[in-house]
Amino acid sequence: MAREKWGTKLGFMLAAMGSAVGLGNIWRFSFVAGNNGGGAFLILYLLFVLIIGVPLLLTEVSIGRKAESDVVGSFKKLAPGTPWYLTGFFGIASAFLILSFYAVVAGWAMFYFWNYLNGSFFAQPAAGYEGAFGQFISHTWHPIAWTAFFMILTIVIVLSGVKKGIELANKIFMPMLALILIVLAFFSLSLDGASEGLKFLFTPDWTALSNPSIYIAALGQAFFSLSLGMGAMLTYGSYLKKENKLPSATLGIGLMDTFFAVISGIVIFPAVFAFGIDPSSGPPLVFITLPSIFEQMPLGGMVGLIFFFALILASLSSSVSILEVPTAYFMRVFGWSRFATSTVMGSIMFVMGIAVSLGFGVWSGVTPIGERNILDSMDYIASNILLPLGGLSMALLVGWYFKKSEALEATDLTSSPIGSTWFTIVKWVAPILIIMIFLNKIGII
Ligand code: PFF
Repeated sequence: MAREKWGTKLGFMLAAMGSAVGLGNIWRFSFVAGNNGGGAFLILYLLFVLIIGVPLLLTEVSIGRKAESDVVGSFKKLAPGTPWYLTGFFGIASAFLILSFYAVVAGWAMFYFWNYLNGSFFAQPAAGYEGAFGQFISHTWHPIAWTAFFMILTIVIVLSGVKKGIELANKIFMPMLALILIVLAFFSLSLDGASEGLKFLFTPDWTALSNPSIYIAALGQAFFSLSLGMGAMLTYGSYLKKENKLPSATLGIGLMDTFFAVISGIVIFPAVFAFGIDPSSGPPLVFITLPSIFEQMPLGGMVGLIFFFALILASLSSSVSILEVPTAYFMRVFGWSRFATSTVMGSIMFVMGIAVSLGFGVWSGVTPIGERNILDSMDYIASNILLPLGGLSMALLVGWYFKKSEALEATDLTSSPIGSTWFTIVKWVAPILIIMIFLNKIGII
């Protein structure tokens, strides 16, 4: 059977942007920035996106396009007879870890959408937004039902195939989400006490840089937000036709993704300070902050309704790219249909998601890594360790295993003035930085 292809280059761009823009930009960016002191984190994150993220995004997509296979198969094809393909399993493992908590958080967003639809979040519930949210996520099966709902939607899009399912949803709702965020940013800036939030986000406290955790947090956020290192972008690249040019496409994806993150910060932090919310509240942060913003806003209930609808779609266009990674792999090795493969993989992730959800309720005492609950532990392993390792492997493949001319050809940079700079980054700068950040975290440097 011929492999599927994108309808147009725009189709690929939209799908890749859809993968990049999601809960990572709004939910994860805000709480990780909040946990890591704001300004200094933002600068590190932007630096890593620019000098590691975008060059590796180009690398990852080009590997997929050249090999025309999934994350494991691509390494096998391009570095035959070597154990390189084993690093593809970092990608498969991170897909399972990430989607199982991603679906839980997207389920929370669906619950909010529902509460705006029936009007119950138009005004503070008796317990307050924070209390109502706390009650909801600690409930044994309510949030799990929403997780199931989200996972079913993801599976249905993936099983209906690459083109039909994924291209369309992104064309309408990405611009809509951007528009709402811009309006929200202006509103948030008009709140009393907003300036303190801006100071938090944009005035770096350099002493934060003495904590090794901030580097790995910023690196993990850059990888997570750009959908980098898992093979999602690689797999999407494998559905590209050869004639599509890559460098401008990947730069566009990087810029768009960063725009969404920064604008989310401008929405969240002024409001966090205006409403006296703790910026280091962790994963619940945006779910506590946003409804307070909507409540204060004229027509806020309507805005909240549209916002959560757009956020759910942004999450779906990311979750499908995650599910596509193991689906593409297992379809090839087991020869199963797309239908069977995506259903089985999605179901396994859902079962893992049950544990994640219970981690906010009856299993809140379960802390696999340090003081982290189940979600935070899975996120830590996947985003801060496995994704950067996957990216490192891709950089080493293209920087060291390929000849320079081959690497430039794979990325359409042969006659480009930035070709050599890109190659130096992929061969030296990005790998050294990633390794240094790991060593620094372990305490070796
Ligand atoms: N980039 C997505 C987001 O920011 O929500 C999440 C994600 C998608 C992470 C795909 C990793 C991935 F491979």
